[in-house]
Formats: sequence, structure tokens, C-alpha cells
Amino acid sequence: MSPSISHFKKIIWTYYRKNRRDMPWRNKTTSYYVVLSEIMLQQTQVARVVEKFTSFIKHFPTWQALTRASTKDILQEWSGLGYNRRALYLKQIAKEITDRGKKKGVLPSTYEELCELPGIGPNTAGSILAFAFNIPHAFIETNIRSVFIHFFFKDTSEKIHDQDILTLVEKTLDTDNPREWYYALMDYGAYLKNTQANPSRKSAHHVRQTPFKGSNRELRSHILKYILKKPTNTQQVVKSFPRAPAEHITKNLNALEKEGFIMYKEKTGLYHIA
Ligand code: ADE
Repeated sequence: MSPSISHFKKIIWTYYRKNRRDMPWRNKTTSYYVVLSEIMLQQTQVARVVEKFTSFIKHFPTWQALTRASTKDILQEWSGLGYNRRALYLKQIAKEITDRGKKKGVLPSTYEELCELPGIGPNTAGSILAFAFNIPHAFIETNIRSVFIHFFFKDTSEKIHDQDILTLVEKTLDTDNPREWYYALMDYGAYLKNTQANPSRKSAHHVRQTPFKGSNRELRSHILKYILKKPTNTQQVVKSFPRAPAEHITKNLNALEKEGFIMYKEKTGLYHIA
């Protein structure tokens, strides 16, 4: 049987009081720290993010510093986190919200405006509202999904849809302190994953990450790292990764160029970081 709303809340708060996880972005909830950490956490595990976040803010301590940084320096600092598109989005966000941008140096605090920013979808917008502004807005992320499935869908055998979970997130939301409430939910979700089979296996939206080795992600990452070292021509890239057919390399070079990671210079025949 599912717990009542008030019993559920009591379980989560009680756990949190004793087991709150400390994280660098939880001690200082500036807009920059929150957006940076939430974007890093979209596809990367907490332990890895803690490490990269700390080094990233040493190199780029503010939104302004990020706008002044070159794409090359940002990508170099991003290396090891994967899904590099997120690094480009961050730079674009920094540009949009600093003085010269449309938002006059401040991160917007409405759901609609946050969703307009590159790389920010509905769930990240909700998390930014909670963590940067302490504004209640229902959203789901992987740990939150696990918590609700564990408590409210124990006997459900068909796949559970996020829309049904969102209804419960909304019903249980602590409107006095959404920031801490979401930390508490996420910490409880992480605890569940360590103690039993991941409840999110029952979600209709749960995607397991495919292996990196042998994937196109691996090839893309290799190509970008290679060009980060020095400007390079197609032939050199092809030679550097003998496992991949040449046409896969050219396809990725074209895609990386189109997405704004690299630039081709006709004069030298070399690819550079954009
Ligand atoms: N604390 C703040 N944001 C978080 C997230 N996305 N995952 C885990 N803990 C967090």
C-alpha cells in the first residue's frame, strides 16, 4: 500500500535530516553555480561532477569569466564529462545573460524564460527554479523518479509514465522550502539506488546509457580531443583512429562543424576549435 502524503513527507525529511549529502553547489546557490551544476548533472554522476565542478569554477569563477573564455579552453575543462554540447550551451547561456546579452546580467526566474535558454529543458528549468530561487515548480530527475516509483507504484506492473509521477511531485511539493525538499528527494533516491534494484527500471522513460566503447560518442570524443591538441587535417584524423572507416570520420567532422565545435579553414585545409 502507498503511504499517505504526510507519512511520505515525514519519511523523506527524517532521512534527510540525518543523511544530507554535502555538495559544493549546495553551499552557495548562486545562479552560476546552480546552472553549471545542473547542466553537468544532466548526464554525469554526482561524484564525477563534484570533481569537475570544482576545477571548472577555479578556471571560470563567474558568468562573466565564461563569456570571456574561448571555446577551446571551455572544452578542455569540460573534458571527461562527455556530451560536450552542454559546454557550448553553457557558453551561450553566459553570453545571453551577461550585460551585453538580452537578460541584462541576471538569470531569468520564470519557467518560460528558463526554457528558452539553450540546453535547458522542462526538468532542468524546474530544478533551477528550486535551487537558485527557492521557487516551487514540479519537475522530475532520475533520483526523484526512483523515489516516487518506490513509494507509490510498488504494485504497478506496467511501465510508469512521468506524467503520473509529476502529478504526485506536485501534490507532495513543499512550497515553503522547495530547495531543501528537492535535495531531500534526490538524496533519498540515491540511497534507494544503493540499497536495492533501481526502481526506475519500471519507468517508461528510463534509458540505460549505452556502452561508450565502440560507440559513435567515443569516435566524436576522440576527434574533438585530437583537434583540441592542435589544428588537424582530415587525413591525420583518419590515421589517428584506424578502427573507424574514413566516411564515419568525415561525417563526424561535418557534424561537429555544423554544431559549432570546430571550423574548417580553406587556406590551410585544417580543422580548428571554433
Ligand atoms: N543537488 C542539487 N542538484 C542535484 C542533482 N541534480 N542531483 C543530485 N543532487 C543534487
